[in-house]
Formats: sequence, structure tokens, C-alpha cells
Amino acid sequence: MFKLIVAFDKEKTIGYNGWMPWDITDDLLHFKETTLNSNIIMGSTTFNGLPGPLPKRTTYVLSSKPVVESDQLKWIGNLDDFIQQHQNSDEIFYVCGGAQVYKQFLPYVNEMIVSLVHGDWPSDTKFPDFKDEVFTITTLKEYPDFTVKSYKRK
Ligand SMILES: NC(=O)c1ccc[n+]([C@@H]2O[C@H](COP(=O)([O-])OP(=O)(O)OC[C@H]3O[C@@H](n4cnc5c(N)ncnc54)[C@H](OP(=O)(O)O)[C@@H]3O)[C@@H](O)[C@H]2O)c1
Repeated sequence: MFKLIVAFDKEKTIGYNGWMPWDITDDLLHFKETTLNSNIIMGSTTFNGLPGPLPKRTTYVLSSKPVVESDQLKWIGNLDDFIQQHQNSDEIFYVCGGAQVYKQFLPYVNEMIVSLVHGDWPSDTKFPDFKDEVFTITTLKEYPDFTVKSYKRK
């Protein structure tokens, strides 16, 4: 099963200059707590912005070029095959961005865990358009700089 985790602002901004425009420690901790001991999926652009695979998770990287695999790092070379294989499994895969990857997985995610970041931010990368109506939206937790919301597919 696919879940998606993202931080965006009210304009659906997710990135600027190759990283998130904000620097919110609580949100990074929320991301860590949510994804720890799970599988995470990201595009090569997002992955290449990290020092390496994130500890205590299995990182699946989407790229047209093969990735050197290890216990912690796996390559998704064929997205359609991967979706078909894992869409109906009980195992959770967190889709972690960026924009290209969110867009391709969005039709297949059961739930989105959204950090709605307060304030106005510079932007060059946005979350793809989606219809609120297809999700049941609940607030999970309020932080000073963001609110965590769950979007469960109806
Ligand atoms: N706010 C948040 O929660 C959040 C989370 C994550 C990322 N971000 C931000 O998002 C931005 C990056 O997003 P992005 O859209 O530019 O890049 P991305 O989605 O991270 O990665 C795109 C790359 O993934 C590979 N790819 C995508 N679809 C593929 C497919 N079907 N088959 C094979 N490879 C595929 C391609 O790389 P190859 O060239 O290797 O083939 C493509 O160039 C950054 O600013 C980052 O900070 C924000």
C-alpha cells in the first residue's frame, strides 16, 4: 500500500532551489517518526540532495539510471511494475517526493500525511493538483509552524 508524506504551504509549494524553502526541525522529526522502520520512495533529485539513504528505513529511488543497491537502498527502474507489485500489499511504502514522484503516485495512494506549513514562501516546485473532495481530511496535530493533516481516500 502506498501512503504519501509531504510538507506544503497554502500555495502547495514544496521546494525552492533544490530543497524545502523552510527549515522546520519539528517537521523533520515528524517525518522521521512517521517513516522510521518503513519503506520510503523518492525521486533521484530528492535523493541526491540527501547525504545518503536515511537510517532505519529502506529507501527506494526512482531513476532512469541504475542505482547501486544495498540492504538500505533499492532502485525502482520500472514504475508501472513496482506499482502493480505493491499497490495491494499490506506493506507500507511512504511516497516522499519530489513533485515528479508525487504526481505519478498520487492516483495510487490510500492516504496523504500533509504538513500544512504556515506563512508565505519562495517557490519553484509545487505539489501536483488534486481534488480535496476525494479525501476525508482530519487534523492530526498542531505545531507552532505547521499543522499535520491526514487525507484518507474516500
Ligand atoms: N516539501 C516536501 O515535503 C518535499 C519532499 C520531497 C522533495 N521536495 C522538493 O522537491 C524538489 C524536487 O522535486 P523534483 O520533481 O524536481 O524531483 P524528484 O521527483 O525528486 O526527482 C525527479 C527525478 O526522478 C526520476 N524519475 C521520476 N520519475 C521517474 C520514472 N517514472 N522512471 C524513472 N525515473 C524517474 C528522474 O531522475 P533520473 O534523471 O535519475 O532518471 C527525475 O529527474 C526539491 O526542491 C525538493 O526539496 C519537497
